[in-house]
Amino acid sequence: MKINGNFLNLKDSYLFATVGRKTAAYRAAHPEKEVIRLSIGDVTLPLAPVVIAAMHSAVEDLAHRETFKGYGPDQYCYAYEPLLSSIRASYAQKGVMLDADEIFVSDGAKSDCGNILDIFSVDNTVLVPDPVYPVYLDTNVMAGRRVLFADANEQNGFLPMPDPSVRADIIYICSPNNPTGAAYSREQLKAWVAYALACDAVILYDAAYEHFISDDALARSIYEVKGAEECAIELCSYSKTAGFTGVRCGYTVVPKALKRQGVMLNKLWARRQSTKFNGVSYVTQMGAAAVFTPEGERQIGENLAYYRRNAAVISACLDSLGIWYTGGKNSPYIWMKCPFNMDSWTFFDYLLENANVVGTPGSGFGKNGEGFFRLTAFGTAEDTAEACARIEALLKDKA
Ligand code: MLT
Repeated sequence: MKINGNFLNLKDSYLFATVGRKTAAYRAAHPEKEVIRLSIGDVTLPLAPVVIAAMHSAVEDLAHRETFKGYGPDQYCYAYEPLLSSIRASYAQKGVMLDADEIFVSDGAKSDCGNILDIFSVDNTVLVPDPVYPVYLDTNVMAGRRVLFADANEQNGFLPMPDPSVRADIIYICSPNNPTGAAYSREQLKAWVAYALACDAVILYDAAYEHFISDDALARSIYEVKGAEECAIELCSYSKTAGFTGVRCGYTVVPKALKRQGVMLNKLWARRQSTKFNGVSYVTQMGAAAVFTPEGERQIGENLAYYRRNAAVISACLDSLGIWYTGGKNSPYIWMKCPFNMDSWTFFDYLLENANVVGTPGSGFGKNGEGFFRLTAFGTAEDTAEACARIEALLKDKA
């Protein structure tokens, strides 16, 4: 027996596990301190009432022989029709028309990000932005793929554009970006689509944060760009949009127009999912189906506005300190430059020890993240205001 030796090429632990471990150690050593976590992007508001009502009603369905549900419908890889219809309606609002069998419901974008790689050869070269959500890199390291990086930095506003001299087969794009909060315009995405088509590459487009976009020039789906249906797979999630980080539900779009070597990737993914996955629970799917109804949109809109206000509070704090940052406008993440030229982990310790505030060190997202730090707007309004007051008191006249 041989293990998958590629795992030995990974960092010891997943970034957020390291942050969690360091925070727990500090708390254990200082039980009297009130530590505020603005690190992992976990939501704090409860599910919208319309979602809860739909879930209660789905539980009731399961209680009666006439309405009980076992496995979901296999025609659509175990997705129920009301959920597919609401996702299609949400895409239609962006001018993107999808067939039901182009949408695959899953337990979230993180799982699909890793699982989708099953349909691609390990011989492909992968292009990943740096800094980036660690899952893109780690899942490819696990498989032993060759990985190239597209440098994102202050000069390009953390939005790297394609380099025609680089050849890649699989390209990751996350917009609005995790961790930097920077978001591509439709015009910029056109360049990526043209590049992917020219290379015969496939874009894996992570749109988990698209609901935070308020600027009309920014794309909420890569399919708003013509030609993307022939080169892009889009991954989306209810986690940040509707507070499903614990409930778990997402969806991946694989257009039927997307073919490589004469094969529809949609068919490969359907085959993979029907073999390795039995679908998302009925109760969860019915809750998710309520999100993109008019009342659902209104209610989640209130939650999104709450997080946007938190982002504005963090931005105002950094503005008053004269600290450079991106994000916070079309994104729940604020990507700030560490003061005093500190490296990311030094600033992590400095902030934890002196303000009892936890963020995420930028270097954990890649080499270009060194010297940067990520704060999330997903905390409570009270914690966000208190954390900012402490940061301001700590850094005022010093930053
Ligand atoms: C983050 O903080 O980057 C996210 O919560 C991670 C995730 O969505 O898996």
